[in-house]
Amino acid sequence: MDLNNIFGARIYEFETISSTNDFSKQLCMDNPKNGTIVIANEQTKGKGRLGKTWSSIKNKGLYFSIIFKCDNNKSKYETLTPIISLAITDLLKDYSLNPKIKWPNDILINNKKVCGILCEFKQSPHGNFIICGIGVNLYQDISDFNEELRDKATSISINTNIKIIRNEFINNLISNLHVYYNNFNSSSLKPFLNKYTELSSLLNKEVSLKINGYDTSGNVIGFNELGYLLLKTENKVIEISSGEVTLKNTYKK
Ligand code: BTN
Repeated sequence: MDLNNIFGARIYEFETISSTNDFSKQLCMDNPKNGTIVIANEQTKGKGRLGKTWSSIKNKGLYFSIIFKCDNNKSKYETLTPIISLAITDLLKDYSLNPKIKWPNDILINNKKVCGILCEFKQSPHGNFIICGIGVNLYQDISDFNEELRDKATSISINTNIKIIRNEFINNLISNLHVYYNNFNSSSLKPFLNKYTELSSLLNKEVSLKINGYDTSGNVIGFNELGYLLLKTENKVIEISSGEVTLKNTYKK
């Protein structure tokens, strides 16, 4: 495959692999360079968040992980998922699509999930690493999704007539990621916060949230500089670092 890694690190390519995130974790034991990429055409054990699986059919999606060295700055870890979300939404707009970000890690088109991000932390004798796994549905038809996913998932091809050339898509995504990553040394989302907020599918919506098995609900009023969700409950505003959101009704001010 003709791929460029603008991060100047190695690219590991596989036809089939269990999970690009799991392989990346093993690589951390060999001290990979910042920006190392692992990509596969198929995953047999694709992983999603919260112990879910990620459907990773051959030649249909983009399955890759990027390894970042972690300089003990936890806030950088927090902001990576929003940064990646922005890099992806920029690219989807080039395909005349109108993507939305569903905090914390989903990209939606027409309210259906087209991409998921799974960032994992890995300690090794060489230091700490963050592995960001990105799954994008490129060429799936509705029939490629199982019954459970059919109402919730979509692909780029389902939504546009523009031809997607896989390598071009990956190279542009890596390039977008590089630009955002280089502009984000401050570990704060501040320069991108307005953009991130405008792209949110949850803004001004009433939601219920599961956080570590505990339920809460309220209205989403925005995000902070670390990408935490700001939830207005009955009597206060709480900042939430991660959780599973379910949309209730449209919030009317
Ligand atoms: C989610 O939405 O739950 C996150 C999905 C992340 C899927 C990607 S595909 C590449 C990488 N390898 C994995 O096993 N998972 C991530």
